Amino acid sequence: MRAVDVRPEHVSPGALLGTGTPRLSWRADGVPDGWTQEWAELELTRDGVPGAPETARVEGTAQLLVAWPFAPLPSGAAAGVRVRFAGSDWSEPCALRVGLLAASDWTAAMISPEPDAAGPTPRPAMLLRGQVSLREAPARATWYVTARGLATPEVNGGRVGDVELLPGWTSYHHRLRYYSFDVTDRLAAGANVLGAWLADGWYRGFVGFEGGVRNHYGDRTGFLGQLEVTYPDGTRETFGTDASWRSATSPITAAGLYEGETHDARALPVGWSAPGFDDARWGGVSVADFDHATLVAPEGPPVRCTAELGVVEVITTPSGKTVLDFGQNAAGRLRLRLRGPAGAVVTLRHAEVLENGELGTRPLRQAAATDRYVLAGGGEETWEPRFTIHGFRYAEVAGWPAASGPIAEGVTFRVLHSDLERTGHWASSDELLNRLHENVRWGMVSNFVDVPTDCPQRDERLGWTGDIGVFAPTASYLYDTAGFLSSWLKDLAAEQAELGFVPIYVPYVPTVFPNIPYAVWGDAATLVPWAVYERGGDLGVLADAYDSMRDWVDTVLALAGPGRLWDRGAQLGDWLDPTAPPEDPLQARTSGELVATAYLARSARILADSASALGRDADAARYGAVADEVVAAFDAAYVTPDGRVVDTTQTAYALALEFGLIRGDERRALAAGRLAALVEESNFHISSGFAGTPLLCDALAGGGHLDEAYHLLQTRTCPSWLYPVTMGATTVWERWDSMLPDGTINPGDMTSFNHYALGAVADFLHRVVAGLAPAEPGYRTILVAPRPGGGLTWASARLRTPYGEASVSWERAGGRLSVRAVVPPGASAIVDLPGRPRAVVASGTHAFECDYRAAEADPPRPPDLGAFDRLRARAATVTSGRADVKE
Ligand code: BGC
Repeated sequence: MRAVDVRPEHVSPGALLGTGTPRLSWRADGVPDGWTQEWAELELTRDGVPGAPETARVEGTAQLLVAWPFAPLPSGAAAGVRVRFAGSDWSEPCALRVGLLAASDWTAAMISPEPDAAGPTPRPAMLLRGQVSLREAPARATWYVTARGLATPEVNGGRVGDVELLPGWTSYHHRLRYYSFDVTDRLAAGANVLGAWLADGWYRGFVGFEGGVRNHYGDRTGFLGQLEVTYPDGTRETFGTDASWRSATSPITAAGLYEGETHDARALPVGWSAPGFDDARWGGVSVADFDHATLVAPEGPPVRCTAELGVVEVITTPSGKTVLDFGQNAAGRLRLRLRGPAGAVVTLRHAEVLENGELGTRPLRQAAATDRYVLAGGGEETWEPRFTIHGFRYAEVAGWPAASGPIAEGVTFRVLHSDLERTGHWASSDELLNRLHENVRWGMVSNFVDVPTDCPQRDERLGWTGDIGVFAPTASYLYDTAGFLSSWLKDLAAEQAELGFVPIYVPYVPTVFPNIPYAVWGDAATLVPWAVYERGGDLGVLADAYDSMRDWVDTVLALAGPGRLWDRGAQLGDWLDPTAPPEDPLQARTSGELVATAYLARSARILADSASALGRDADAARYGAVADEVVAAFDAAYVTPDGRVVDTTQTAYALALEFGLIRGDERRALAAGRLAALVEESNFHISSGFAGTPLLCDALAGGGHLDEAYHLLQTRTCPSWLYPVTMGATTVWERWDSMLPDGTINPGDMTSFNHYALGAVADFLHRVVAGLAPAEPGYRTILVAPRPGGGLTWASARLRTPYGEASVSWERAGGRLSVRAVVPPGASAIVDLPGRPRAVVASGTHAFECDYRAAEADPPRPPDLGAFDRLRARAATVTSGRADVKE
């Protein structure tokens, strides 16, 4: 028996911590079934502090995010902590490394190249170098770095670390992240050189759509680095960026996140970041005004290259171009290995799809997504852009030098995203559903690039709040998102405090899009922290987000007024209802006010529940009552006495049912029946957008219409979840019909092939189809409740919960259902099988069997009658759902 996987909050062991009192978690390994922890002992060894280790005892069962029981670790400290519990061995030590916590710990200046790259975007990237002289080789050296823009640090002639797009994107004027690198082995006695490549990035590059913004955070790039050296005798020395640094234009003659990058390898000043280099043409730097109090340590993992994809097919297009197919749509960029004459230019253009056999770049709008490499000549060269990222599956390559050999061997797709830990898996006997699930995962990672973005390819890539609001539960199953999302929530709270309401995307930059409070989007303020709490068990995230959650609910209550209906002002509503015409995604059939009031009820309820979890009893009572009032107002205004919802749409019913907005069991059952009838009427096609889609299957299954939920899930014609799969999609699309059945791209000017929002249905696959759901925050109690159907013969879900691996798998044969569930140590499960009373089981592996006869093993499908066209035609004749009800 031993404690394993000891880790500080939200980051891996050894990663930089932004607190001296990190909460600690561990799991139990090798313990008997049914084990629960009686007590745990923690042992702390502080690096460089002589004396016996400190110990602390924690009574009881807590093993998740346990409060730091020692005196705080100071800035820059390193330590090791071990854990044991009654009868166990000590765990392996977990390394803790504290960052620079106070503004006063920083002496380094924010320096800007002088002169800085200027002119229109995309601008050149710059090089910066500074010398430090060490009296002897260090015992330990840590380099803390950040930038206004994007930086790649170098030491003594070589790159440091593998962090991409450093320092990521936060609301820079409130919070600027720094990273740290252990450079002990890279430094020597005497002269050493520190350097950085520096480009505009989000700080002053092209960001946004409809022309976007430039220089949003400032008109000068900057770099800040502080080297902390400890010598073998324990003495310390600090070297910060200062006015002695030098700068020059780099070989990157243009770098933009959307535009792409041009690199002229002939212009590389060889050895520029190594000792002994000197070039009188280099300029100097200026010291910029900078508030060190804005510096924060990362809370989640950085962006890294996580996978490499090879060329699947080399295509010659009808117009004679060479296009590489990597078989998977994702975010990243290409690495080239090539040889050729000096000055030869290779041009790379990227796109998600082909249209008429050629690269389909129209959806990219103003993102040129074009990289160019100018060869240095004289041997093999390897190159990958540094300061750009593209969303693509196909790349058109022009100018590939003949001397490089076969193109397929010289080009690699380097997949980039926030390097989150994978936690959740799912599979079933239905290969199309399996591919859908894989598409959801790729859609997620392609858009978890430091910020939860809407899409990775066009001139947008913004942290649209509504998208992550609906997707957060799914994301938090697939990957450990706690640090990533808690960091983003801090930006949300900071922007909200500045603007007075939750903006449409975070970080916020002004665009032509009206930034006003919108339901669903603003509700991310409650939906996201709640998802992180529910899935990860982290009450701290709720505590940190609480003011932001309450402020959002108060904002909406003020807009709604005493009637408790948010029925005034513009709404994005059920955005991208498939019946809306391509050029007007706002034209949903469900009224914006109904969606808005439904989400107000949901947010008020989440707030009340959060207050209660945090022991804020007065708020819990107050907002609980408010939530009841909103429900009553919704019910009175939008639900008829016999349980019909006034907007006769799938979304209206799904919201009303899933958010508990219909009072009375009988009326609820009637509404569920009505939803099932609507779904059948649409020939089992989806007719909901962002607001309703995540809830549809749950609303059907929860209302006793599991068959209809499976029908909807397994429909293959448009609009449906599986239609894109049948079209060869490898990610989730923004629109149900981003690609039309004839292979042309949707004519709307907003068409991405990599948007995660509609993939929120995967949560239903996990919780209901396979049957693995949290019954208590952090899966301390698991709900094992599979609901087989849809002709599936087996399904399984596997999740690394905070307590360890849990799984549920089932198999159906000959009217018998066999279920296997693994409950990790320290957790328990409620088992709820079809036709059987609920039972509670302790940790361990459990097998169950029961009689189970599905309504139909493989339900007959009604013929598909072009439901999409029918729905559109119907939408054109019904201006409001209410007219429909009165018929
Ligand atoms: C984005 C969406 C977003 C929406 C809201 C779009 O351009 O891509 O995902 O939520 O705008 O208006």
